[in-house]
Amino acid sequence: MKRLTLLALALVLSGGVAIADTIKIGVVGPFSGPAAQQGRNFQAGIDAWLALNGNKIGNDTIEIVYRDLPTADPAKSAALTRDLIVGEGVRYLAGYYYTPDAMAAAPILVEGNVPMVVFNAATSAIMNASPYVVRTSFTTWQTSTPMAAVARERGIKKAITVVTDYGPGVDAESAFVKGFKDAGGEIVASVRMPMNTNDFSPIMQRIKDSGAEAVFAFLPSGPATLGFMKAFAENGLKKAGITLLAPGDLTQESDLPALGDSALGTLTTFHYAVSHNSPENKAFVEAASKAIGDPANLTFPAVGAYDGMYVISKMIEATKGKQDAKAAVEAVKGLSWVSPRGPVTIDPQNRHIIQNIYLREVANENGKSINKEIRTFEKQGDPGWKAP
Ligand code: PHB
Repeated sequence: MKRLTLLALALVLSGGVAIADTIKIGVVGPFSGPAAQQGRNFQAGIDAWLALNGNKIGNDTIEIVYRDLPTADPAKSAALTRDLIVGEGVRYLAGYYYTPDAMAAAPILVEGNVPMVVFNAATSAIMNASPYVVRTSFTTWQTSTPMAAVARERGIKKAITVVTDYGPGVDAESAFVKGFKDAGGEIVASVRMPMNTNDFSPIMQRIKDSGAEAVFAFLPSGPATLGFMKAFAENGLKKAGITLLAPGDLTQESDLPALGDSALGTLTTFHYAVSHNSPENKAFVEAASKAIGDPANLTFPAVGAYDGMYVISKMIEATKGKQDAKAAVEAVKGLSWVSPRGPVTIDPQNRHIIQNIYLREVANENGKSINKEIRTFEKQGDPGWKAP
């Protein structure tokens, strides 16, 4: 007995056997305040993954440590990130709903020897802010580029762009303007709205006055997107013959009941619809619906979190529980799997997710509004990424 204990001790000291460990994953997101719905979806995605896969990876147990960041606040994001690494000893970071928050956390990763898996923030440049960032969401370049082609194919010649004035909005505008002009379209005006805009009627007037046949719009999902969609309906733009085109942030499923019939027919391009028809998505929606309580609250940040957990699990497997951010990130470059959204791959070049982008139409099915997928743009990388 004594000899066995000594032998075990010697093996452990020499690194010969793995000892069971608890590996903490720090998750930063909006869990309270106006965007709490988006944070709840991070948590639902994580809980769904844990329900289907358990909390053990090899001998190790994973533990999630949440930190609440209600609004885009880079200084607070950096402080929470440091506290998670230094105070909590997390070995992985994840979440980050808003681009400025992901950007502020990225420079801390190398010194902390911690990889970060972005569950949402969608600006292309985030990937260049640190070699330890991997992303399982989308970029607005990736989701907006196919919409420009759709607009031209549907005969739209003149468009106006309206976006929130920060990273993902500027990227969405750049993507649509480039795609639309390359295909022979004309951009009559480009409007950028401050992030705190909540009265959209003056914007609606500018769209009407612009002479455009269509408006391409991006706002970050949350209270602003619901406000914008309501203003579009209430100010009679549809009746005036103006077509709304947007990435799917504007028609997240949890907003559709409040929009009612006014949203029917709206075309969007996006990586994920809750109604996506596949066995992988069926299992995911069942588990995530249980986690979030009311299935009507389930939206896209949940799938970013669910796939992000898969990526982190592969990192932990590959590093056998050792803290080695470089090796963890290397291990998932080129990783392919079937996500609830469809087939995906982590681009080995920029660590962003390659995925299908779907054209969807808001449609009523069995008395419920859904984002009905009507066309697939396969294996889209990030057209907005530039080598540093
Ligand atoms: C972002 O800040 O990068 C962001 C937030 C919400 C979205 C899309 C992008 O819906």
